[in-house]
Amino acid sequence: MKPDLSTTYLGLGLPHPIVPSASPMTGDLDHLLALEEAGAPAVVLPSLFEEQIEHEAMAIHFGMDFGAESFAEAPGGYLPEMDEYNAGPNDYLGLIHAAKRELDIPVIASLNGTTRGGWTLYAKTLEEVGVDALELNVYFVATDPDMTSEDVERQYLELVSEVRRAVALPLAVKVGPFFSSMANMAKRLVSAGADGLVLFNRFYQPDFDLDTLEVSPNLKLSTPDELRLVLRWMAILDGRIDADLAATTGVHTAEEAIKLILAGADVTMMASALLRNGPDHLRTVVDGLQSWLWTNEYRSVAQARGSLSQLNVPDPGAFERANYMKSLVSYSSDWLTDHPTS
Ligand SMILES: Cc1cc2nc3c(=O)[nH]c(=O)nc-3n(C[C@H](O)[C@H](O)[C@H](O)COP(=O)(O)O)c2cc1C
Repeated sequence: MKPDLSTTYLGLGLPHPIVPSASPMTGDLDHLLALEEAGAPAVVLPSLFEEQIEHEAMAIHFGMDFGAESFAEAPGGYLPEMDEYNAGPNDYLGLIHAAKRELDIPVIASLNGTTRGGWTLYAKTLEEVGVDALELNVYFVATDPDMTSEDVERQYLELVSEVRRAVALPLAVKVGPFFSSMANMAKRLVSAGADGLVLFNRFYQPDFDLDTLEVSPNLKLSTPDELRLVLRWMAILDGRIDADLAATTGVHTAEEAIKLILAGADVTMMASALLRNGPDHLRTVVDGLQSWLWTNEYRSVAQARGSLSQLNVPDPGAFERANYMKSLVSYSSDWLTDHPTS
């Protein structure tokens, strides 16, 4: 019998755990339909940004600043036009209406902001238009030297609890890894009302252009090398946090998805790999997951989930400081070996 790939995320029963995360690939109906056709079990729409709520036409972070031409490596056919990406509240509601009308799979909306007011209002509006769940994409870079880590954490937690009070929707919170105590923050986000955590938001770093002497925002798609940060925290948090865990960043093939499931992920999300390879890539990843489970005699995703997390491995120190020294000491450089000192 084929392994059972089903999973549950935010109270939604899904046939398998490979979910397209927020990106231009989920930003228009045609691509949403193509993702459903390729077997997507649910979709996360691009974020509606707080700035757009205040200034309808403003595009930030992921959108018009970057433009389709920024993705030098993306085959032209697969990259949706960026002009309309994250276009504003009215277009966003239009996208949700169309998605809910045309798709049979759950639609998860996403809100991105840093302050409270607009979030609760829009969370309620999204609930009214019938989204199946809501992801809060908290993307905050604290640059004020007078702002303490307590201030930052309080801001996150107040935001989550205000939205929690405003809506009954299943609520996921997508955060970055940059907290002094990630595990404690994860626990408090859940106490504030998160039903799920999405680990991790990928912070886009600006670069300098040495020809124009300007700061250049050029978004690069992820690579599988970026998986390890998520993999470690997934393995550390598995079983210790009373919430569903979604993994995002670095999932390009079945191999990364399998590792994250073994670490404890309920779902693993993909954006870059779909932008690079198109919607049908999702099917390849699901097939790869299925055949790996089969070959390794797992009956189901549920059976495999967490089997390599900190709770279940013989050496839990592998995820902590204990392994730091071992990794440094065990590194061997070919160059140094070839150039011994006398
Ligand atoms: C072009 C682009 C646009 C994105 N837009 C959003 C967004 O609107 N909201 C959000 O939460 N994440 C957004 N993301 C982040 C992705 O959902 C995902 O978390 C991140 O790319 C890491 O996953 P990956 O390695 O599969 O790409 C975007 C990513 C890309 C590449």
